[in-house]
Amino acid sequence: MTKSVAIVTGAAGDIGRAIASRLADDHDVILLVDIDVAAAEKAARMLGPVERFVAVGCDVTDERSVAEMARSAAALGAVKTLVNNAGAARAVSLQTTTPDDWRADNALNLEAPFLCFSAVADMLKATRGSVVNISSVNGMSVFGHPAYSAAKAGLLHFTKLVAVEYGKFGIRSNAIAPGTVRTQAWEARAAANPNVFEEARRWYPLQRVADPVDVANAVGFLASAQASAISGVCLPVDCGLTAGQAELARTFSQSADY
Ligand SMILES: NC(=O)c1ccc[n+]([C@@H]2O[C@H](COP(=O)([O-])OP(=O)(O)OC[C@H]3O[C@@H](n4cnc5c(N)ncnc54)[C@H](O)[C@@H]3O)[C@@H](O)[C@H]2O)c1
Repeated sequence: MTKSVAIVTGAAGDIGRAIASRLADDHDVILLVDIDVAAAEKAARMLGPVERFVAVGCDVTDERSVAEMARSAAALGAVKTLVNNAGAARAVSLQTTTPDDWRADNALNLEAPFLCFSAVADMLKATRGSVVNISSVNGMSVFGHPAYSAAKAGLLHFTKLVAVEYGKFGIRSNAIAPGTVRTQAWEARAAANPNVFEEARRWYPLQRVADPVDVANAVGFLASAQASAISGVCLPVDCGLTAGQAELARTFSQSADY
């Protein structure tokens, strides 16, 4: 029997590791892809046996590195799922964004998902598999980090491009837009402001931020047969943020009900 394989990029990070763990529920082998190979190997060891969790070093912004990663995936079995999760933001405001920052944020958050998808598209055709792109609420509204946000907005459109062009091959393409998720990506901001999550919480209707497992569960659903009629959508995992803000509703309506 050919083994089913899921590829998770940025799998050494907190969200990526949680996604890898969740996808192991219905995939035989998970390929943990990360530029930090030692961290990917550590994540794989934490998750389980080497036959099921395989780490590979890859810079997803580099076409040749991505081609090698795709070959490693093919050697493991039949690729059923690609999760484009690797992502990060460099520039915090437009006024401080250099051309290099703009290009780097776009290379990692928009071009890399294109490179990874292109490298495994034929394998996904063979399995009628799916891609899940980890975008952000930053791709839907302005919350800072402009180059990253423009790239994440582009990633939402890329999700639809794949859904429409590859739907005839049975490939589904969906995105997830997390709001704030407590991960290592917040370390510098939490060091600068220990109250950063408390301050963020008040803008969320559920009055909390998300955990990596919340994102992983949404990926697990979108990649599963339960979502077999769902393609081209963006599922926010944002504790209600993009639905609206209670504080603003209270001001606008002058009702204490919000
Ligand atoms: N944490 C949040 O609040 C939040 C919110 C919205 C969206 N997201 C998105 O979720 C995804 C995961 O975020 P996270 O918080 O777990 O980040 P993280 O920093 O914890 O993990 C990101 C991982 O990507 C890897 N990576 C970076 N550049 C790479 C490259 N060129 N090639 C391969 N791997 C590379 C890093 O080594 C790291 O292990 C990202 O796409 C991020 O934009 C996160």
